[in-house]
Amino acid sequence: MAVMNSSSLTPGGVGALAGRAVSRIGYGAMQLERLRDEPGAATALLRRAVELGVNHIDTAHFYGDGLVNGFIRDAVSEDDGVLIVSKVGAEPAPGGRIPLRLAQRPEQLRAGVEQNLRTLGVERVAVVNLRRADKGPGLRAEGDQLVDIDDQLAVMAAMRDEGKIGAIGLSCVTLDGLRRALPLGIVCVQNAYSLVSRSDEDMLALCASEKIAWVPYFPLGSAFEGMPKVTDEPAVRAAAQTLGCTPAQIGLAWLLRHAPEVLLIPGTADVAHLEANLAAGSVMLDDAALATLDAVPARAANVSLE
Ligand SMILES: NC(=O)c1ccc[n+]([C@@H]2O[C@H](COP(=O)([O-])OP(=O)(O)OC[C@H]3O[C@@H](n4cnc5c(N)ncnc54)[C@H](OP(=O)(O)O)[C@@H]3O)[C@@H](O)[C@H]2O)c1
Repeated sequence: MAVMNSSSLTPGGVGALAGRAVSRIGYGAMQLERLRDEPGAATALLRRAVELGVNHIDTAHFYGDGLVNGFIRDAVSEDDGVLIVSKVGAEPAPGGRIPLRLAQRPEQLRAGVEQNLRTLGVERVAVVNLRRADKGPGLRAEGDQLVDIDDQLAVMAAMRDEGKIGAIGLSCVTLDGLRRALPLGIVCVQNAYSLVSRSDEDMLALCASEKIAWVPYFPLGSAFEGMPKVTDEPAVRAAAQTLGCTPAQIGLAWLLRHAPEVLLIPGTADVAHLEANLAAGSVMLDDAALATLDAVPARAANVSLE
């Protein structure tokens, strides 16, 4: 049996984020939007995550216009010692295929941080990602949303000086954008990346050399139809069968093994999936399995998320 201990209190082992030790497997809260009418289920899922050692939760005010932040505020207390990472750079746009539109201007970034402070019910957000739109599937900036990253970094740094933000991360950013931001002190980068979507190896290498956490979003390929799913990959399914675990666990175990700077935030609205994802840190990929998975080619999306 390849999965050894499903309830380790440090799922995935110990990683570092913003000067704090965190479990390498955290939780991405975006899928909690689906529990809009089941707040009790959202609370139960978040409590189970904390109980199993999750101490890094990714969120955004724009996930359900404060809904997901509210779930976190109500379910997770300061005593739980959870590092909450949020993001600014977009705002809700209900009804679209992606229920978001960009909000990139400096005054919009500031308004976004204020909204996060309010809906999370905190005086400082530990880490805030500046969510650009330079890379990855989905939104692209145009018109007044095309903002120079230096202007955005200036307002992020000002909010850090004011104590509203503990540390700054970047999301959907290019290598050049990350390089320009380095003097400011960047603690994490969050781009789309998984076993089947690996165009950012150079960015991961730069993060590794700068001791910046690499926190891929869509680690399983997302919930969006048409995006390549890690769990559909034949080599992943074969490895899961051989090792006696699930394809999702193989995808997450590969990410953990791929580089020590990787921190995971898989998203789920299902407690059983949460428990399985946290147990992925105990899946042992031997060298042969790793070589087979490393050889899986990148898969293109057969849908546009524009
Ligand atoms: N920076 C950005 O721009 C950005 C963009 C998107 C997302 N994010 C963050 O990244 C996090 C992760 O991304 P994501 O949630 O979009 O995608 P993901 O983690 O790649 O995949 C989530 C999908 O996988 C399913 N799933 C999860 N665990 C599973 C398991 N053990 N077995 C089978 N299916 C499983 C989920 O369904 P169930 O709910 O049924 O389990 C859901 O459909 C988000 O939650 C969010 O916090 C950031």
